[in-house]
Amino acid sequence: MQMASHTAPRVVLTGPPGAGKSTIARLLGEALELPVRDTDTDVESVAGKSITDIFVDDGEQHFRELEAQAVATALREHTGVLALGGGAIMDPQTQELLMEYTVSGGTVVFLDVSLAAAAPRIGFNQARPLLLGNPRAQWKKLMDTRRPLYERVANAHVVTDHRTPGEVAGDIVSLVKASGL
Ligand code: S3P
Repeated sequence: MQMASHTAPRVVLTGPPGAGKSTIARLLGEALELPVRDTDTDVESVAGKSITDIFVDDGEQHFRELEAQAVATALREHTGVLALGGGAIMDPQTQELLMEYTVSGGTVVFLDVSLAAAAPRIGFNQARPLLLGNPRAQWKKLMDTRRPLYERVANAHVVTDHRTPGEVAGDIVSLVKASGL
């Protein structure tokens, strides 16, 4: 298998809000001694404001454009653990870049979670503009739409229900080491 270049991330995490991407990314960074990057944070830095403010001031479409740029930049520059915002995989260019990354030996992990397990994790009261109104119904709707996309772009699937972040991170460390990158 052709290996991803040394400037590729060691591992990419995707999955819906509440899957635990940020927590798992931090644990992976510690375990693998690698820097951690999060495209939500990158978008906020570029825009100079919070994601909620981007949605309110500029609209979701603008957020998605900034997000697609942030993902492309991070895939090119970052060599550590990369966590994607939950909706990043909806962008066709992002889907393409993630496929190229996996074909060249990279690991994209779909952190899967049920609504029952996601609900207490995100509390459904934080600043997540897409979940405003009826958070459980919104979450279910977006997960139903996105599940096929998460499954398509990822080459590893880890179910997080009933598992501690440490257990999940341990599984991913094994996967990453086995990938040989
Ligand atoms: C979004 C998820 C958020 C953030 C934005 C949109 C989504 O990231 O990118 O609020 O579309 O699911 P997390 O998955 O880290 O919550």
